[in-house]
Amino acid sequence: MTIERPYVSPRMGVLFDVIGPFVTWASRPDVRSASGPGIANFMFGNPHDLAPQVYVDALIRGSTPTSADHFAYKMNETEATGIVAASLAERFGLPFDAEDVFLTNGNFSGLSICLHAVTGSGDEVVYVSPPWFFYETLILESGSTPVRVPADQESWDLDLDAIAAAVGPRTAAIIINSPNNPTGRIYPRETIEALARILAEAGERNGRPIYLLSDEAYNRIVYDGREYPTPVASYPWSFYIYTYAKTHLAPGLRFGYVAVPPTMPGREDLRGPLLLAQVARGWAFPVAPLQHAIGDLDRIGIDLDRLQRRRDLLVPALRDQGYDVVEPEGTFYVIVRSPIPDDQAFFDVLVGHDVYVLPGSVFEMPGWFRLSVTASDDMCERSVPAFAKAIAEVRS
Ligand SMILES: Cc1ncc(COP(=O)(O)O)c(C=O)c1O
Repeated sequence: MTIERPYVSPRMGVLFDVIGPFVTWASRPDVRSASGPGIANFMFGNPHDLAPQVYVDALIRGSTPTSADHFAYKMNETEATGIVAASLAERFGLPFDAEDVFLTNGNFSGLSICLHAVTGSGDEVVYVSPPWFFYETLILESGSTPVRVPADQESWDLDLDAIAAAVGPRTAAIIINSPNNPTGRIYPRETIEALARILAEAGERNGRPIYLLSDEAYNRIVYDGREYPTPVASYPWSFYIYTYAKTHLAPGLRFGYVAVPPTMPGREDLRGPLLLAQVARGWAFPVAPLQHAIGDLDRIGIDLDRLQRRRDLLVPALRDQGYDVVEPEGTFYVIVRSPIPDDQAFFDVLVGHDVYVLPGSVFEMPGWFRLSVTASDDMCERSVPAFAKAIAEVRS
């Protein structure tokens, strides 16, 4: 018998239903090649300026062998995990143990490792909507069932009543992302403490902890000198999940970590499962040069003033033009209500003016769109009259 078609795992069909439309949209040639003179590209948190020399120099140092085993297989190398633990202790005043640090290829793999280590078939994992695009996919792929809970639609804070109602006997974990992509909201300390009480009580009822997966991708991108309260300080059953992708504005260099806080009861028991999840996810450890460079890389921050200047240019300019804009407290992102209900149609109108944004229907916010202030200064300035023309066009 001649076999004429490839065999594809049925699992892919399930994942396609969830993330397929987004991946298809993001792979469209016109979306992928939205660059060139005159184009203002606000779609993703990608760099549009050259990386700073201090970053390049750190990578060169990390790539230069100093011993025969420089490029040997790497796991959670002691020197690197020690640097992370010391950095976290300094920042949050919590004495993290280097043995509780698990180096990752960014928060995609950090979230996946945690989900694989502590949740499974029959479990539910709560996430807040609008979410980062891939939560549902990662939850499903780990074998659990995603439970979607909308954020408060006015303040974009957590809706604690809705979370309390969604947490049940099968809840194994909740994913919290602050500062939040896409809304830019930093959840206040009181909200986090109230959430911690809800989770602790439900965990006691269930006879097993409900883990909080704290996706802190943007915790160093906070505006107006605001305080950033990490959920990990308020709730002991938390995983601190961090990626350098945003701080370095280099998402193509996959690098981050998961840290289990010293307050987690019995945290030693999680070391084996987390390590195993890293191996089983396909040797999900960062490449050797990044591990060698971590001392330098951990100290490099982003030019926050520049990002804030762009936010402060765009938010009032778009409001003056009649757009409904949410001013972010952190992250790269500004969410804007589309002046017509069909955000995909407004995307097309903006493309007609050489401006590319992310339509809200791809991140559970139909009727909105998202801008990333990682667009260059020039793109931001050029886009202002283009936004004015686009809103005038749909209003006429
Ligand atoms: C909230 C959030 N979590 C996780 C990620 C994934 O991070 P990384 O690309 O470093 O894996 C992103 C990236 O956009 C994000 O915005």
